[in-house]
Amino acid sequence: MAITFDHGGNVFAVARALGIPPEELLDFSASINPLGPAPGVKEAVCAAFDRLVHYPDSGAVALTESLAHSHGVDPANICVTNGSTELIYLLPRLIPGKRALIIAPPFAEYARALALAGWEIDYLQLSPAHGFALNWGELESVLAKGYDLLFFCNPGNPTGKLFRRDEICRVDQLCQAAGTFLVVDEAFMDFCEEESSKDAIVKGERGIVLRSMTKFYALPGLRLGYAIGADRLIDRLQELRGPWSVNTLAQVAGLASLADTGYRERTLRLIDTERDFLTARLQAIAGLVPYPSAANYLLVKFQGDISTAKLQERLMVERILIRNCDNFIGLPARFFRVAVRGRQENERLLTALGVVCNNINGASTPLSARICSLSGVEGNLLRRL
Ligand SMILES: Cc1ncc(COP(=O)(O)O)c(C=O)c1O
Repeated sequence: MAITFDHGGNVFAVARALGIPPEELLDFSASINPLGPAPGVKEAVCAAFDRLVHYPDSGAVALTESLAHSHGVDPANICVTNGSTELIYLLPRLIPGKRALIIAPPFAEYARALALAGWEIDYLQLSPAHGFALNWGELESVLAKGYDLLFFCNPGNPTGKLFRRDEICRVDQLCQAAGTFLVVDEAFMDFCEEESSKDAIVKGERGIVLRSMTKFYALPGLRLGYAIGADRLIDRLQELRGPWSVNTLAQVAGLASLADTGYRERTLRLIDTERDFLTARLQAIAGLVPYPSAANYLLVKFQGDISTAKLQERLMVERILIRNCDNFIGLPARFFRVAVRGRQENERLLTALGVVCNNINGASTPLSARICSLSGVEGNLLRRL
């Protein structure tokens, strides 16, 4: 089984390898709110500076209450963590068992966390030819083989495919019948909150919802995530979690983010408008086929004569990063993913993509020669990006 460590958003490594400051890169490879953090976050973080002489509030009580209020659940149903990645790594200890099923193409950390804990992993692949739709009969018969855990990302990353709330409830029922614990990763659900299955999952003890504050609230460098689930599961997660995994600055940043409802509305409007714009303009470039998405990124099928890695390399010449999806398990070659950003940035991407797709058989650039000659970890990273 192949396990990969590669993700988008490697701006520091790429900038080092290219000998430029990270600020010169236009990053479409990680899907982060293009507005940046909510306006009140910087002030709140600076104001909390003097609190750094104390250990963080271990239970992240104020943030937990604010999250509970915004989701309409009890604080006892929320466990705040150091990014949702911390949760992914806690799950193999939360759930007794050894066999996991992952809906593919998946976020790579599910398999890594499970494999490190000695679990066996199988994949149920959703096909691009069917718009990444679920075949219910297939899911039911695969679950009948006896899995302890199912990882289901909704909306899917990298696909952008949204399963409606009633579909996730149906998955939950199938899992209950098969004795499988359901993990719904809603890292990007803030972009389509009405379809969250949190209220249904929280009622049972055989499922949990993972949420991230790093994407919608643009805080990946601070790390902030949380689980929503039944009290008993949340209590157990609190026991498993390290005591100070959520630092003071992350807690105040989370609180300030949730307080700003105007920022939330601006974000949703911007992403809706720009996703439509980007989709239409990508469709107009010969050789590119974007898939429908409910999140702040688009998966694009690339039909040019060069590899996706070469396409990525050519965009890097323009200091633009895209996510080459070649290393996603269960996704055929020749897909890439781009974040939805602001209008000017999206136009810069579209112009660069248009030029590359029109000159697909052009000569290699000095930059691509330089990438090929890089050695060590960063050379490998850039070649695989
Ligand atoms: C689907 C999905 N889940 C979880 C995560 C982890 O997010 P974080 O640890 O930043 O909250 C990511 C990060 O890219 C992701 O794409």
